[in-house]
Amino acid sequence: AAAAGAIGAIVYNNTDGDLNGTLGGPENAAIPTGGVTAAAGAQLATLGGQNVTLELRTFQEARTSYNVIAETKTGRKDNVVMLGSHLDSVPAGPGINDNGTGSATLLETALQLGSSPKVNNAVRFGFWSAEEFGLIGSTYYVDQLTFEQQLDIALYLNFDMIGSPNAGYFAYDGDNSDGVGAGAGPYGSAQIEKTFVDFMQAARGVSLEGTDFTGRSDYGEFIAVGIPAGGLDTGAEGLKTPAQAAKWGGTAGIAYDPCYHQACDNLGNIDRVALDRNADGVAWSLGVYATSTESING
Ligand code: PHE
Ligand code: ZN
Ligand code: ZN
Ligand code: ZN
Repeated sequence: AAAAGAIGAIVYNNTDGDLNGTLGGPENAAIPTGGVTAAAGAQLATLGGQNVTLELRTFQEARTSYNVIAETKTGRKDNVVMLGSHLDSVPAGPGINDNGTGSATLLETALQLGSSPKVNNAVRFGFWSAEEFGLIGSTYYVDQLTFEQQLDIALYLNFDMIGSPNAGYFAYDGDNSDGVGAGAGPYGSAQIEKTFVDFMQAARGVSLEGTDFTGRSDYGEFIAVGIPAGGLDTGAEGLKTPAQAAKWGGTAGIAYDPCYHQACDNLGNIDRVALDRNADGVAWSLGVYATSTESING
């Protein structure tokens, strides 16, 4: 292969320690599958300063990974309520808030529900693999369904980071009415957002704000194929504003999760009150939609 031209300096943009950064590009732009680690990137940047010739040769690797899917025996199979969370973490840390909180909450919810609850609609749980490598597990799952099987999913609810230590209280902005992100979700997503907003206000006294709904977590492929979706989260690297600290408590000017994608995302990195409130929101939304999805059908 022809050698790349001499490169004077390389800026390695990987702010969060995952494998999704690119040489010289914005974080989470095109992913060189197989990975340039942060350490290798730093070494390359040093070499770049010495005006050596550098080549970046990407390659594909094959790995086997596993989504875990569970579904109730009861309820309509053609109007399924699906809930999901990712099981994996970034290599940098144990991923307790991201996303032990979401996946542990879903597991406990599934155990409490049992295999044969009295529900009108079947409830299906997706424990996703490889979210941190580009939503790989959930994207594969949605894409391998037939069109009919996609139509049988009434809605999808996603839970990724629901116990951040400096918690914000967010629902995915299904209709873009909060103007966060770009564009509304599929028909019904606004109603899902409202279900969360109303419950958290009335039952837990928490005023939710809308948050980005453009595909930064496992709901992305669901909305891409037109399945209504929603979810809760407590914030990642964003900074809590003074207005939010006044409303929700916590500390203004620091991140909702200062240990986002770091080694310190350990068992101490949890706001248990936030986790409890959001877990209640998970169970409530499941109960609402397992009973009826009429509100999102138009
Ligand atoms: N999906 C992101 C991650 O796993 C975090 C995130 C969660 C972003 C929820 C937005 C909303 O790193
Ligand atoms: Zn993450
Ligand atoms: Zn996550
Ligand atoms: Zn909204």
